[in-house]
Amino acid sequence: MTRILFYLDGYSHDIWRDAFHAVDPTIDFRSYPNWGEPDDKSDDTYNLVWQPKPGLLKEYTNSQITFSIGAGIDHIMNDPNLPDGIPIVRMADDGLKEGMAEFVLMSVLMLHRGMPELIDAQKQKSWARIFSPAASDITVGIMGYGALGQNCAKALKPLGYKINSWSNSPKPEENGVRHFYGLEELDNFLASTNILVGLLPSTEETKHLLNCERLSKLPQKASIINAGRGSLIVIDDLIKHLNSKHLSAAILDVFEEEPVDKGHPAWDHPQIILTPHIAAVTRPKTAAEYVLRNIENYKKGRPLENVLDRKRGY
Ligand code: NDP
Ligand code: OXD
Repeated sequence: MTRILFYLDGYSHDIWRDAFHAVDPTIDFRSYPNWGEPDDKSDDTYNLVWQPKPGLLKEYTNSQITFSIGAGIDHIMNDPNLPDGIPIVRMADDGLKEGMAEFVLMSVLMLHRGMPELIDAQKQKSWARIFSPAASDITVGIMGYGALGQNCAKALKPLGYKINSWSNSPKPEENGVRHFYGLEELDNFLASTNILVGLLPSTEETKHLLNCERLSKLPQKASIINAGRGSLIVIDDLIKHLNSKHLSAAILDVFEEEPVDKGHPAWDHPQIILTPHIAAVTRPKTAAEYVLRNIENYKKGRPLENVLDRKRGY
């Protein structure tokens, strides 16, 4: 019998159990702390976790695969005692991709149409009419062109924006998306971007990539959406660029410290819209289908989807 060891602190697990049982009622779904004893071994065991307690996964080494409840795997890699040999699979179910496309679409439209400025003007009771450029005069630059970035490009395209993307490796120009890659092309990518969308994982290489100097490469009045990881941006540098009005606004869903401290300037900054890491929240129904499909593939000796490459860190 397939056993799922589930770890998600602070939220109800019933909806997850029900989602798995809707696909396969025989699943032995165990919510932490009711995982059973580590030596109660079954080879047909898989972890599905978000921010697991450090050291916990080391105790349950009979597990065949560790599935992340989110697309990011940094919350698992932070465990200094993580067992080596167990493959880690990122979440990339349809629900997560749809959720991120909704958030990015909403945010791009808000920045294009000056919504942060309009919200601030309303607070001042100021009748400040804003005239926005046409979508076809705006370039959206997507940093991180993986499962989520590519789906966001697909969702944005029908609105008429020009779309550029940036990633680690070269990619063919497809559906009119102009591709940049590597650090050598980053400055050119930034210089051609009006609305920047951060969808990068947290790695050594992506940490503080957007510092004061790099942010200065963005054109005047450019704006930023960050829905990848907070470590991408040096937030004090971003605030400097917003204060000087070089950058017009930012919609930030992710931060280096979460929850954000109540004294943090991002909370009250008139050019920042802050959301509490909700851009794409994994949806149990599609996630259960994704996990069970991957387990089925694994049992049949087929390749797993979206396995972490430990060398690259994502
Ligand atoms: P993928 O692994 O599919 O894609 C990652 C992309 O980032 C790839 O295009 C990769 O390049 C690029 N990349 C990684 N490192 C570098 C680097 N050093 N320089 C340039 N490009 C780099 O991830 P997903 O699209 O599924 O998810 C992206 C991130 O979004 C997650 O890691 C997570 O942190 C975040 N996230 C946030 C959510 C939220 O609610 N705010 C929800 C879900 C995810 P290449 O294609 O060349 O390999
Ligand atoms: C994720 C996230 O990684 O929610 O999926 O950040």
